[in-house]
Amino acid sequence: MSDRQKIIAPSLLAADYGALREDTLRAVQSGADWIHVDIMDGHFVPNISYGAELVKAIRPHTDLFLDSHLMCSKPEILIESFAKAGTDGITIHAELGESAHDTLRDIRALGLRAGVAINPPSDISIVEPFLSEIDLLLVMTVNPGFGGQSFIQEMLEKVRTVRDWRTSRDFNYIIQVDGGVGMQNCSLCAQAGADCFVSGTALFGQHDMTKAILEMRNQVNFVS
Ligand code: DX5
Ligand code: ZN
Repeated sequence: MSDRQKIIAPSLLAADYGALREDTLRAVQSGADWIHVDIMDGHFVPNISYGAELVKAIRPHTDLFLDSHLMCSKPEILIESFAKAGTDGITIHAELGESAHDTLRDIRALGLRAGVAINPPSDISIVEPFLSEIDLLLVMTVNPGFGGQSFIQEMLEKVRTVRDWRTSRDFNYIIQVDGGVGMQNCSLCAQAGADCFVSGTALFGQHDMTKAILEMRNQVNFVS
C-alpha cells in the first residue's frame, strides 16, 4: 500500500457562486485538505470562471493549501497576481509547450509549488520534459472547461505511467486527478497511483459534505 499522504481537494468550480465564502468555509469545515481553484480564460478552454480576486477573497478564511489550476493560454501574465493573492500552488498545462518551462521556473521563483497538467487527448509523453521541474502532475480525467462531466476511465493508464516514472526515475511529484472524480472511481484512481483527488460535483453536491469527504478518504486510504 502506498504510504504517501492522500489529499482530498474540493473544487470551487462546483460551489454555490452566490455564496462562495460560505461554501469555501463549508469545504474547510468538512475536512478538506486542499481547496482547488479552477481558473478558466475562455480561450484555452471554452468557459470563463474567475481570477486571482477569488483567491484573494478566500485566503483570509482558511490556512488550507490553495491549489490554482490555470486553464489559460497565457499563464505567464497571471502567476504574479495569483502569488500576491495568496495561492500556494499553480498548475499550468503541458499543452502550452516550450513556454511552460519558463513559467514553471517563475512559479517556483515566487515560492509556490509548480504543477503541470495534461488533457485527455494529449499523449502522456508531452509531460516528460517537465518532470524534473514540477512538484505536482495533474492527469485530467475530463476535458477541461466544465464541472459535472463523466470520468474518463482510460486516463487511469496515464496515472499508472506517471506513477511508474516517479518511482523508476526517482521523482517525488504529487499525482493529482481532476474531473468526474467521485465515490465510484476514487479508489480506482488511488490504486493507479493518484495521491490528490480533485472533486467538485461529488462533494459540493452532497448535503453532508463531511460524510462525503470522509467516505472518499476511507476509500482512497484503504487500497492495496
Ligand atoms: C474541469 C474542472 C473540473 C473540476 C471538477 O475543467 O477542472 O474537473 O475541477 O469538477 P467535477 O468534480 O464536478 O468534475
Ligand atoms: Zn481543475
